[in-house]
Amino acid sequence: MQDAPAPLIDPFARAIRYLRASVTDRCDFRCVYCMTENMTFLPKKELLTLEELDRLCTSFIRLGVEKLRITGGEPLVRRDIMTFFQGMKRHLDSGTLKELTVTTNGSQLEKFAGPLFEAGVRRINVSLDTLVADKFAAITRWGRLPQVLRGIEAAREAGLRVKINTVALKGFNEDELFRLTEWCAENDMDLTFIEVMPMGDIGNEDRLGQYWSLKDLRAELEGRYALTDLAERSGGPARYVRIEETGQKIGFITPLSHNFCESCNRVRITCTGEIYTCLGQDGHSDLRAPLRASEDPSVLEEAIRKAIGLKPKGHDFDYSRQTVDGRVARHMSHTGG
Ligand code: GTP
Ligand code: 5AD
Ligand code: SF4
Repeated sequence: MQDAPAPLIDPFARAIRYLRASVTDRCDFRCVYCMTENMTFLPKKELLTLEELDRLCTSFIRLGVEKLRITGGEPLVRRDIMTFFQGMKRHLDSGTLKELTVTTNGSQLEKFAGPLFEAGVRRINVSLDTLVADKFAAITRWGRLPQVLRGIEAAREAGLRVKINTVALKGFNEDELFRLTEWCAENDMDLTFIEVMPMGDIGNEDRLGQYWSLKDLRAELEGRYALTDLAERSGGPARYVRIEETGQKIGFITPLSHNFCESCNRVRITCTGEIYTCLGQDGHSDLRAPLRASEDPSVLEEAIRKAIGLKPKGHDFDYSRQTVDGRVARHMSHTGG
């Protein structure tokens, strides 16, 4: 048997075990903090084929990736994407991949929850910032809340564990903090709050005005509940607490108020085969050319190692001077968060 290759270690001695793969830059929503209404998307011919995506992810798994998250845009709008998920199941079955999962806006879950479970997915993250239908329509521009709620219900019926991701937005969902928390407790779902990051030109942007520090959000929760910090991690950037009164888990993703880059274990690939080694930096390398140059995975794997050798220390997002510093030009949908 072939020896296992050396794991992927970056220049700051961080082992890369988590790959986030964006399978499309398209989305059926237009969330105001993520996109402009008139986005230009890539021509479809630029995309990696599903077979190429499979080869790319398989190489990462061979190099020690244990957690694979499929993102977009909205990953479930990519045509035939279930074929790709079904293919990845072989790595779960062999035990090399520990978790196959997806971050979705929930719009297609009624159709795909069952097939995702069959492909070995056990846990999904669904983005949802409000439980008020009008507000939902306003923030997603094109999304409709009832469809997403039906999708979440379908996911739970299919046996998928659901974590809700909520971007904390001042003046938008501050008044729903307890409603969202209670709703997740009632439905046995985890909930993670995310601080809004300065990514991509979104038109009339007011990132500073929107910014709701999770330190403040946490203090509000503590006004009502007893919170216990948990050591437990889900392999991503969230830190968790348990609400003693309900037993539920709440996560905090705090790129602004508490930087977590030193424990970063992840890299991202885009739907065109670029690798971004940091969400908060513009630096990237091309993997599509080496992928297409040869069927021999060693060519690709050398390119992956070279790219990981360029992984920066962390992002430079910073609002502390009351200005938006460290912004990156590309939209969140390019690399899927
Ligand atoms: P779990 O498996 O549940 O831990 O998921 P996750 O938090 O790794 O994935 P998810 O797609 O739910 O990510 C939530 C959000 O966290 C992303 O959309 C980003 O906004 C943010 N995030 C994830 N990784 C990073 C990172 O490396 N840096 C920064 N600044 N933000 C990140
Ligand atoms: N800052 C923080 N989170 C964002 N998301 C999209 N844009 C931003 C941003 N600028 C979130 C979405 C989704 C995840 C993929 O990223 O709400 O939960
Ligand atoms: Fe689509 Fe997600 Fe961006 Fe909203 S945040 S527009 S659902 S990619």
